[in-house]
Amino acid sequence: MKTEQLVSTFVEFFEERGHRRITGSTLLPPPGDPVLFTTSGMHPLTPYLEGRPHPLGSRLVNVQRCLRTTDLEEVGDPTHLTVFEMLGSWSLGDYEGPVSLDWGYRLLTEGLGVDPRLLHTTVFAGDSRIGPDTRSLETWHGLGVPVETTVEDNWWSNGPVGPCGPDSEIFLWSGEGPPESTPTRDDRWVEVWNHVTMTHRRLDDGSLVPLPQRNVDTGLGLERLASLLQGRNSVFESDIFDPWRRLVPTLWPLEESSLRVVCDHLRSSVVVLGDGVRPSNTGRGYVLRRLVRRVLTVLWRDDPSRGIGDLPVELIRHTRDHFRQDLGPEEVLRLLVEEEGRFRRILERGRQVLARPRFRGRLTEEDFHYLHDTHGLPRELITVLSEE
Ligand code: SER
Repeated sequence: MKTEQLVSTFVEFFEERGHRRITGSTLLPPPGDPVLFTTSGMHPLTPYLEGRPHPLGSRLVNVQRCLRTTDLEEVGDPTHLTVFEMLGSWSLGDYEGPVSLDWGYRLLTEGLGVDPRLLHTTVFAGDSRIGPDTRSLETWHGLGVPVETTVEDNWWSNGPVGPCGPDSEIFLWSGEGPPESTPTRDDRWVEVWNHVTMTHRRLDDGSLVPLPQRNVDTGLGLERLASLLQGRNSVFESDIFDPWRRLVPTLWPLEESSLRVVCDHLRSSVVVLGDGVRPSNTGRGYVLRRLVRRVLTVLWRDDPSRGIGDLPVELIRHTRDHFRQDLGPEEVLRLLVEEEGRFRRILERGRQVLARPRFRGRLTEEDFHYLHDTHGLPRELITVLSEE
């Protein structure tokens, strides 16, 4: 099943059950939101989860692109991407968690053809403040799906404050043989779909207060499920990455984990640029800058003559079309090449400064501050240069 077909199957399933589709386009959160990027499908819905009526009603479905800076270091493994897409469904004070779990099971097994024997779930075991999620537990027992209970892993929150609640996660077996063990003990169980019953709001002091309504918020990792349905071992082998895997290795021969980082970071940079972010030394622009610099650091490790200017525009167009963005592929390439030029110049200057006798040997905190404040050299760059 192609990724596009997976998206339409999901959206239609929920539309048939009274959900209205909302647009989940940009990575940029609404004004006033303290986070840099949209981190999950529910993120733009926060006011409605907290009780404001949504103009489209109490049942919603969407496809939201997300970026989690906390996951950056994980990229290169089989399941993490910098920019990923989340399919989401919501009940804003409408139906309850067990209905959502039952639909989730039916969509996965009947709609998407997942073998039910390859499923495992987890459920909130309860803690000193909130009781165990017995309704989810009973629902899974009724459906005959194995369940494991946990405490921290099954409490979902979007940050230190805001809406939160117990969740039930659905895992799919990705191993070769028959399923073994449980999700907390074997990482061949891949989390694909999280169903949160949003019941509380966490305040600044850590206390929990009930929300005015009980909501259901679900998020399904599109690329993860697509790659598993396509029988692939990693998200980088799903159809979404086909053109990248075909063209990038012919341009730059790289071993697998570097290839993944280069494809992921370039593709994510294209999307971030398409959403209007430009490289800078702070905030969103700095996340973009780090992505481009990490690509170049990997490429130049083997051959400093490599350049982003060689990237086929076709890859940028493919990504832009998938995310339905407007910025022209040639302009995206020009912005990437411009950033590469800045990085080359700063590296050149950095090498000259670091060659001074004062910086031979181990650098002190004071050196790092001086190099940053006077020469604009970030710590991670100094570390790279010192290792050359
Ligand atoms: N908010 C939950 C998550 O991000 C479900 O959408 O996993």
